[in-house]
Amino acid sequence: MPARPSASRRTVLRGAALTPVAGLALTACSGGGDGGTPATPTAPVDLGAESELAKGAAKLYRDQNVVVSRAENGDLKAFSSICTHAGCAINKLQGTTLICPCHGSEFDATTGEVVQAPATVPLKELSVEAKDGKIVAGPAA
Ligand code: FES
Repeated sequence: MPARPSASRRTVLRGAALTPVAGLALTACSGGGDGGTPATPTAPVDLGAESELAKGAAKLYRDQNVVVSRAENGDLKAFSSICTHAGCAINKLQGTTLICPCHGSEFDATTGEVVQAPATVPLKELSVEAKDGKIVAGPAA
């Protein structure tokens, strides 16, 4: 087999290019904190009765910054309702469309996908389950 020196060189270059990005992310994290910035749950949260969510519907839990939808086959899906554009808490749900109050981005609550710019990144998916008749959503599985 021939050696592939170019591949290893590319790997090294990519590693170097990532370093400043990681540094920026760390800075952004430590700069946040207790300023009341809306946040996605970091531990499982009890969202209430499972019966409140009909098949084909979605429900926005503003206090927890979570949106949950139920497919026609009964499957639950949960997403963070923190807008991926600039981090606003989305406070409006029309049918299964989430509308961000800050710059008007819209997301599909059943898939997390962007349906209206300026956001370009889908909502963060969370784990969700029905437990003893209650919906419990948590951090990403
Ligand atoms: S923060 Fe949601 S559209 Fe800008």
